[in-house]
Amino acid sequence: MAAVRVFHVRRPRWRRPLTIAAIALAAVIAIVGLVPWSCASRPGDRASLNREVTAAAAVDADDLARGRRDFYAEDFGNEVFFSDVMGVLRGPLRAWPAARALFKLRGAGTTDLEIELAEDLTIGGQTFARGSKLGTGLDVAAGSFLPLGVVVHMSRYELRVGITCALCHSTVDPETKQVIHGAANSDLQAGLLVALAPNSAAFRAHTDIAPLPDLAAVEAAVDRTLAAWPPGSFDATLDGAANPTRIPDVFVHEEAPYGWTGSSRAGPLSGLALYINGPTALHAVSAPYVEPPEWQRIVAMAAWQDALRPPEVVVDAAAAARGRQVFTRAGCERCHAGPAYTTQSVLPHARVGTDPARANGQSGYKIPGLVGLWWSAPYLHDGGVAVAPGESVVGVGNIRARGFPLDPRASLRALLDRELRARVIAANHADTARWELHVRGVGHEFWVDPGAGFTPAEQGALVEHLLSLRIPGG
Ligand code: HEC
Ligand code: HEC
Repeated sequence: MAAVRVFHVRRPRWRRPLTIAAIALAAVIAIVGLVPWSCASRPGDRASLNREVTAAAAVDADDLARGRRDFYAEDFGNEVFFSDVMGVLRGPLRAWPAARALFKLRGAGTTDLEIELAEDLTIGGQTFARGSKLGTGLDVAAGSFLPLGVVVHMSRYELRVGITCALCHSTVDPETKQVIHGAANSDLQAGLLVALAPNSAAFRAHTDIAPLPDLAAVEAAVDRTLAAWPPGSFDATLDGAANPTRIPDVFVHEEAPYGWTGSSRAGPLSGLALYINGPTALHAVSAPYVEPPEWQRIVAMAAWQDALRPPEVVVDAAAAARGRQVFTRAGCERCHAGPAYTTQSVLPHARVGTDPARANGQSGYKIPGLVGLWWSAPYLHDGGVAVAPGESVVGVGNIRARGFPLDPRASLRALLDRELRARVIAANHADTARWELHVRGVGHEFWVDPGAGFTPAEQGALVEHLLSLRIPGG
């Protein structure tokens, strides 16, 4: 793709008459589906917000409502970066086919919006052909006509889009097509969507590509790296390394310090407000094109997230009760203790043994909480522990290539069972592109398997127990 650097807002230009039709249609969509969360997600809301905790966070009901609104609908001006600088809608992805795909759903909702490509693009030898359909991983809630976390702006004759927290940190339940607030969008093709933009070179700092004299070569190299990111992952750091991490859920109550490396602990809500304020409010996803939002809005967003609870998952209750003892016997509580099943400390990576690419220069990895595991497969910071239903297809690349869903139960078993894990790691290793991005699924060898003196029944019971974990009273 030719690299175009555009660092100013483009002048609108008349193109085909179809553009006008697309704009009119998009305006209707923008109005009809403006706030997908307000209509589609009310029922889940009652179940998932904990009002008691909220009361403790020095925010009132108006703040909370504002926090929720901002989480879903505020892009803090990043449409300038995504639309004007990178040109997400000026490459093979265009507004008109996207609008068509949304209309075709007729409000039924989806977890993977498929959009027809408007031109050919070859990335690292793989051709995305004009007319073919691209699975974007964008979620659309039942009753809505806009993807979660996408904000549409009309500026004169041009349609522009920005993104919000909900793009990554909320998802649509595959069965009910209702919004699950705070669950990670585990099939979002974030890297690929950026790679398709004509100027993805603007994303170079999130990769390991050195500045080259030839801009077209930079564009091609950046495209190749971004397109290899596994679905549901994103490289939020500007560390000059290619090491995307799995998008985490934001069931964050009592889970400080925040981020995979536990970089934020100070300030309101145990560091949560400071963490999400980051340099640019979206983990350096956007450049600061607008005035930073006022602090109370950030605190309100943090408080709303702090009050989120995952929906309950149906488990084998008797097995889950037995699994409680297995959890204790296996020593998991050395690290996974407290209301959210984390001691809230950061562990040197040598002790946890997972891929160190992200821990470099930091003290290690935060011990994550274990609430909402049903919604957070694949596991570990690199999302490398991935198994499809039936356990015959394992490994990030295999599952992605064959379009299989992830199975949280089987993936958790792979975290605990050395034989299954060895298969996962072997498959990841064979998948060079992902292995080079440090998506490996190694380490955290706290086995609960026959080799460690546990029966398969005890292992299964522990998996049920893990899936049933909730914040006490939440
Ligand atoms: C493009 C995807 C994306 C968007 C958009 C995004 N995030 Fe994140 N978020 C991530 C990733 C990836 C991480 C993990 C970062 C790391 O540690 O490497 C993360 C981490 C977090 C965490 C820490 C969770 C934990 O358990 O430690 C919070 C809280 C959070 N994000 C909130 C937000 C808020 C609020 C917004 C909107 C202002 C937002 N995010 C926008 C991808 C995203
Ligand atoms: C010595 C501390 C320690 C012990 C003991 C420990 N863990 Fe962990 N656990 C961690 C750390 C640190 C991570 C994050 C590692 C990473 O992402 O690289 C983690 C990650 C996890 C995850 C993945 C969470 C996610 O969202 O991806 C699960 C599940 C988990 N542990 C369960 C267990 C179970 C079950 C046991 C007992 C058999 C256990 N852990 C024992 C420190 C520990």
